[in-house]
Amino acid sequence: MAVKIVETSLRDGHQSLCATRMTTDEIVAMAEILDRAGYYAMEVWGGATFDSCLRFLDEDPWERLRRIRAVCKNTKLQMLFRGQNMLGYRNYADDVVDLFCKKSIENGIDIIRIFDALNDIRNLRQPVLSTKKYGGSVQIALSYTTSPIHTVEYYVNLAKEIEELGADSICVKDMAGVLTPAAARALFTGLRKNTKLPLELHGHCTGGICEMTYLAAIESGCDIIDTCLSPLSNGTAQPSTQAFNLALAGTLDAPGLDSKVLNECEPLMEKTKQKYLANGMLNPKALSVNPNILTYQVPGGMLSNLMSQLKAQNAMDRYDEVLKEVPLVRKDMGYPPLVTPLSQMVGTQAVLNVLMGERYKIVAKEIKDYLKGRYGKSPAPIDPVIIKKIIGDEKPITCRPADLLSPEMPAIRKKYPELIKCDEDALSLALFENEAKDFLSRKYGLEEDTEEFEINVKELKK
Ligand code: CO
Repeated sequence: MAVKIVETSLRDGHQSLCATRMTTDEIVAMAEILDRAGYYAMEVWGGATFDSCLRFLDEDPWERLRRIRAVCKNTKLQMLFRGQNMLGYRNYADDVVDLFCKKSIENGIDIIRIFDALNDIRNLRQPVLSTKKYGGSVQIALSYTTSPIHTVEYYVNLAKEIEELGADSICVKDMAGVLTPAAARALFTGLRKNTKLPLELHGHCTGGICEMTYLAAIESGCDIIDTCLSPLSNGTAQPSTQAFNLALAGTLDAPGLDSKVLNECEPLMEKTKQKYLANGMLNPKALSVNPNILTYQVPGGMLSNLMSQLKAQNAMDRYDEVLKEVPLVRKDMGYPPLVTPLSQMVGTQAVLNVLMGERYKIVAKEIKDYLKGRYGKSPAPIDPVIIKKIIGDEKPITCRPADLLSPEMPAIRKKYPELIKCDEDALSLALFENEAKDFLSRKYGLEEDTEEFEINVKELKK
């Protein structure tokens, strides 16, 4: 059967390669062309794009979504959603999750890809219920990693639970690009035997094996693959859309995308890429193959974060040491898959362990919360000695972390009456309070400087 393609350059491509800095104008211009190519879907929103709009680009993320929707008449729009963390880095209360799913769908999202960094099914329940309630399609992504407990059987059991939960499709999310062709063959064969749901594969080219892995997965029952238009493909991003479209042409798997349309978008994306290479947002190091990834299991986004953290500390010479420390911290933490927010947490802790000269001398608050059970259940049990060293005698929680949270929206609405003109504003504030406060103050002309300026203008007009 024809393989379906999800174009990811406008979300994961620029998130992996150029720190999520592509602007709405750039994205809309490309989305408008790509809409005619015949994709199954385009991933254009979620992940780090929301944060990046508010924090770095002075853009309204909701406006971006509406503008993309307006130019995409033919293609389903997909977003990435981190379970109870949504697009942020902590657990949010159920009322925030529910309203966020509602507004994402209302503003133009068709498919919400939901995952939990720990594959803790309890963290998926609310977003799945809400997405279905508002008519969205639910895709649940299994965070893929290798460890003594992450076997084919583990993922097959997870897939069965996910099917029961009400997912419309299942994605294997290999954020670090560590899935080998042989492992993909075993995994997709196992999944295909045990679920009727469409299966998708999301990989990264960091380790240099992703195309081979995609092909093995396709031959073993994978229905959908994620690819990036070539300028933003490979390196720490996904394989090239055009390459797959051509490689599978003439076979039963041929995706059948319109290559003229892809070629039409190519120069536009190439020009954008050159801009980010020139301004340093695209580190050329992210473009080349790094087989060490297969050993260290560091996803693309995390790799560029580690580089910038070390650069800021003037410690790029410790890069290899930090890379070696990452799997050790991961093992100590019970083998969490390295995906947001766990990738940042484990990465930062690895940097601290190396730069401090003593392991766990300083421990980030997030790692402490993780050990207290606030992110969910660790995949493997954690050594009590490590727990004791980091959180002392405090007893970790065992319930669903969000069960401890009271509704958050009423307090946000009460706190910022002048900045909230719609639910979308309230959600921006609920997710990224400080960044959204600054952004919305500018947007609605409530900054002190702006007020004075407006008064002056009025005076002048008199
Ligand atoms: Co990815």
